Amino acid sequence: MPSMLSFVLGTRPEIIKLSPVIRACERRDIPYTIIHTGQHYSEELDSVFFEQLDLQTPDYNLAIGSSTHGEQTGEMITQIESVLDSERPDVVLVQGDTNSVLAGSIAATKMDEIAVGHVESGLRSFDREMPEEINRRLADHAADYLFAPTEISRDQLLSEGLPDEWITVTGNTIVDAVQQNAEIAHERSHVLSDLDLDGPFALLTAHRAENVDARDRFKRLLDSVANAADEQELPVVYPIHPRAKKRLSEFDIDVPDSIDVVNPQDFLDFLVLEDEATIVFTDSGGVQEETCILRTPCVTLRDNTERPETVDVGANRIVGVESTDVLTGVNEMLATEQDWENPFGDGRAAERILNALGYE
Ligand code: UD1
Ligand code: UDP
Repeated sequence: MPSMLSFVLGTRPEIIKLSPVIRACERRDIPYTIIHTGQHYSEELDSVFFEQLDLQTPDYNLAIGSSTHGEQTGEMITQIESVLDSERPDVVLVQGDTNSVLAGSIAATKMDEIAVGHVESGLRSFDREMPEEINRRLADHAADYLFAPTEISRDQLLSEGLPDEWITVTGNTIVDAVQQNAEIAHERSHVLSDLDLDGPFALLTAHRAENVDARDRFKRLLDSVANAADEQELPVVYPIHPRAKKRLSEFDIDVPDSIDVVNPQDFLDFLVLEDEATIVFTDSGGVQEETCILRTPCVTLRDNTERPETVDVGANRIVGVESTDVLTGVNEMLATEQDWENPFGDGRAAERILNALGYE
């Protein structure tokens, strides 16, 4: 049994998806430290989640911030190595596919007597143009403990030659997080009245580099969403990620009238928006999962997904950004019964992860 764990995290989805594991450590009195790379630093992407999810302030904040991939990841590796050298945890846990995950895995795996556990292991989009695909592949191959959310991800790891005994199918910790917060969200949130949403609406998130970093594609995405939503007479609310906000202004794009751009929401407000929306347009990984769990129809504004389970159960369509495809996807999803099974587990992923580490 490890005597000490360290969590290396750096972005909004990592904070949210590691929160159930951190809370389970608290419940079981397992000693841990949190090393925050500082990849996300704006309050609305960072501290708001620590407060709302009742997590301790990170023991270390490396304040790396935004940069090129190489500079950001390199700086993280150097600083994480130095912290791990003084902390000497037995296991470092990372979650997902960001540059913080890559840096945490690479720094830890080369240090003596420190093992790496990759939470949300074995996902693949098979699109090597995406930085996330490179990060998740390398993190999996640096890890000693592979926490696969589903059998599909387990099979993928096996097909890449990773040993069966390193893999545990745990479910996805996002189910734990949704179960722990959905009811509280409905009790506490005033987001619908705050955003003047008194009838049916659609929710949009779009922040992926491949969608927002090229003017034509970003504009096409917004126009296609507006067109499909107009057909359904749905206003669209778009909590905008800072990356997309920066691009909107740089590219001087006129957002269609039916799309209301608002600030990023905290987790509870965002859960209510996802739960209450008639349909969700997204390019986010976590949002594809959450809509599937909450039984809200989803169309994914990408050409592929590393979450095929959402499509297999009928909760999601992969539509890209062309107008006719987005429209078809929306029509198909709105004609579908929302009675699919959640493929991501029973909300006990965090417990299984700690059990697999030896904390039985
Ligand atoms: C990162 C992840 C992506 C994940 C997303 C979650 C990588 C390669 N990408 O993308 O997989 O889906 O986080 O949200 O790791 N910015 C701020 N405030 C912040 C952070 C960023 O304003 O707190 C702005 C900066 O202008 C920055 C830009 O957002 O240049 C991009 O930030 P970065 O961390 O490089 O990538 P994300 O797009 O956030
Ligand atoms: N999220 C949030 N507020 C928002 C948008 C998203 O709390 O305004 C949450 C959402 O519930 C999910 C996570 O952020 O748990 C997804 O993060 P993001 O889309 O940034 O990253 P990805 O999952 O694509 O890596």
